[in-house]
Amino acid sequence: MIARQFILLWYLSQVAYTIKTNITIDDSFPDPRTGNSIIYNPPDAWNSGTFCQRGPGKCTAVLDTNRLSGGTWHECTFNPVDSSSNDHPNTPSTATVQFNGTAIYVYCALALTTSSPSGNSDMSFFIDGKPVGNFVRPAPNALGYEYNFLVYSNEVLPPNVHELSIINGRAGGSKALIIIIDRIVYSYVYWP
Ligand SMILES: *[C@@H]1O[C@H](CO)[C@@H](O)[C@H](O)[C@H]1NC(C)=O
Ligand SMILES: *[C@@H]1O[C@H](CO)[C@@H](O)[C@H](O)[C@H]1NC(C)=O
Repeated sequence: MIARQFILLWYLSQVAYTIKTNITIDDSFPDPRTGNSIIYNPPDAWNSGTFCQRGPGKCTAVLDTNRLSGGTWHECTFNPVDSSSNDHPNTPSTATVQFNGTAIYVYCALALTTSSPSGNSDMSFFIDGKPVGNFVRPAPNALGYEYNFLVYSNEVLPPNVHELSIINGRAGGSKALIIIIDRIVYSYVYWP
């Protein structure tokens, strides 16, 4: 009986004193807590929005940087066939990051147009090497972009270091589609 009460008190103290905090890993800036950055592969398949602001014509997307975290983005286009939009035909590109937490949220900008850029989305998400979700959406065929779009979230991760991979496109899959990564947010819990 005493043991049970003790366990209950211990449990309540743990719940009462935990603090949950969100950390943003920007597409272009490291995790302020750990210094981890998002790794993009193949590196030359990705364009950085930071660079596009300086070098016109490098990026496919033309975004309102005021509506993006850090004013930056990373984009790449998947195309099953050889084209000017991608030097790696039929090769899905990946963005990978390590984080230590219990929840993860992936925010993208989505192109609404069907061409230039093709706003078809086909993303797959892996955590610790296991497939955990997809975001598939045909381009709505409108002008402009949607910002701050949550394409994946997971709030039931065991507290630990995890690796998230985002894969854009699938081999043999649908034609030219763009991914525009703005930021990844994760939550971690601590006992002050
Ligand atoms: C963390 O961010 C997510 C998504 O942006 C939000 O739903 C959640 O409430 C935030 N949690 C905290 C502790 O701020
Ligand atoms: C992960 O974060 C927790 C706090 O939530 C901390 O206690 C732990 O040491 C961290 N682990 C690593 C490997 O950094």
